[in-house]
Amino acid sequence: MNQSEKLTIVIAGGGSTYTPGIISSLLSHSDRFPMKEIRLYDNDSDRNEDMKLIIQQLLKEEHHTDIQLLVTQDPAEAFTGADFIFSQIRVGGLKMREQDEKIPLKYGLVGQETCGLGGFAYGLRSIKGILEVVGHIQQYAPNAWTLNYTNPETLVGEAIRRVYPGIKMINVCDMTISIEETIADNYDYDRKNWVPTYYGLNHYGWYTEIYDKSLKRDVMPEIIERMREQEMGVADFNEGDKTWAEAFKMMSTIVDYFPSHIPNNYLEYYLFPDLVVEKSDKDYTRANMVMEGREKNTKEMARKLREGQTENVLNFNFGEHGNYIVDIATSLLNDEHRRFMVITPNKGSIPNLRSDAVVEVPAYIGVTGVEPIALDPINDFHKGLMEAQVAAEKLLVDAFFEESYLKALQAFTLNQSVNSAYVAKQVLDEMIEVNKGYWPDLK
Ligand code: NAD
Ligand code: G6P
Ligand code: MN
Repeated sequence: MNQSEKLTIVIAGGGSTYTPGIISSLLSHSDRFPMKEIRLYDNDSDRNEDMKLIIQQLLKEEHHTDIQLLVTQDPAEAFTGADFIFSQIRVGGLKMREQDEKIPLKYGLVGQETCGLGGFAYGLRSIKGILEVVGHIQQYAPNAWTLNYTNPETLVGEAIRRVYPGIKMINVCDMTISIEETIADNYDYDRKNWVPTYYGLNHYGWYTEIYDKSLKRDVMPEIIERMREQEMGVADFNEGDKTWAEAFKMMSTIVDYFPSHIPNNYLEYYLFPDLVVEKSDKDYTRANMVMEGREKNTKEMARKLREGQTENVLNFNFGEHGNYIVDIATSLLNDEHRRFMVITPNKGSIPNLRSDAVVEVPAYIGVTGVEPIALDPINDFHKGLMEAQVAAEKLLVDAFFEESYLKALQAFTLNQSVNSAYVAKQVLDEMIEVNKGYWPDLK
């Protein structure tokens, strides 16, 4: 293949702990996704420098030293001439994630990265950062496609939709693949044979069918039966992770209550907030685990490489995340028209939900972007839950653009993990203090 047919890719948030896993997956699919240059763009120079060492070593070990590596904090240098962008920033880092998780817990509410009020706090930080990144992409690489999985995805998707309608960006979440892989692993199916149908908001949805092409039937009813008989465990890629073990166990509880659909595990935060709070440790949350795990491990790898060690230094495992992202990118670039869940403006996909909601639905992906499928009308239970949450999310994005305290308070009160305006206000007021410099100035 000649050099001009190869791609220049940028990872925005290049210092992310997920970067080695994604590049490793990209390298193992270089036949479908040939690269001539990898650029890591991050606004934190220490993380940039650490990741440079790790990726240099990875390129060496995988015999891909022909691929150029550029690490930069300068958006013009990062995006000019780019063909494809992966976007994964975390504004405020894991330190602010810790606040998102711990503040609501102090008030007896769910403390989670993307759900509940933690997700809303993260949203108000993330929107500002992602709009900045998207602005750079529009300026320097307007024809490039961007695959975005920066969280919280519905809020980020809603904000981007308002400022850049028609933008060449696909928003995706790895959770449906992770759920499918876990189910298949628990009950002995091969998810590669599946055509799943699913709808919802991001981290807030339900499967309606899982058609198995080899068995020639919808296997969802039998899976539901098995989930009720035997709680799910984690698949290999989450082995030893207590948070995911709990989350998948809770899925069995949810189907036991509501055996008509398979839920996204994240619904536990909205359907059982009391149980979740009860089992949460207010002083040690997921952010602490990730800081002491993935983040520390990344720093350790860089430290060893900096000190000249090269043998057995690289040590990371990000399961399905990297592979999934590569599958979507290749479906887009090579016009494969494969089916994935995407996060996209509804526009009639769910016929009885407002058309401007940002939803997560199946779509075929090819060179022109996403082609979501038209679904059947949804039932009142899911519709009611979604309508309230969509309204809360719309209000939060309004609050961001209008710098409105009132809208933020309405959003916090309406969030489906909250049932008191009194508590919502206390959390909002504390979060405003803690997020100074990150959030818009709410008036
Ligand atoms: P991380 O903190 O390890 O990495 C994020 C990187 O982004 C950091 O190096 C940080 O310096 C950089 N950054 C922050 N603001 C920036 C800005 N304005 N411009 C450029 N760079 C900036 O976080 P992580 O745990 O690796 O997660 C990264 C992101 O990916 C998060 O938003 C996370 O929620 C998301 N994520 C999403 C999915 C999904 O399924 N949607 C899965 C995994 C991770
Ligand atoms: C899943 C979700 C992501 C989320 C991640 C958190 O992959 O789909 O949206 O960011 O889990 O994982 P962590 O290990 O950072 O808690
Ligand atoms: Mn996700």
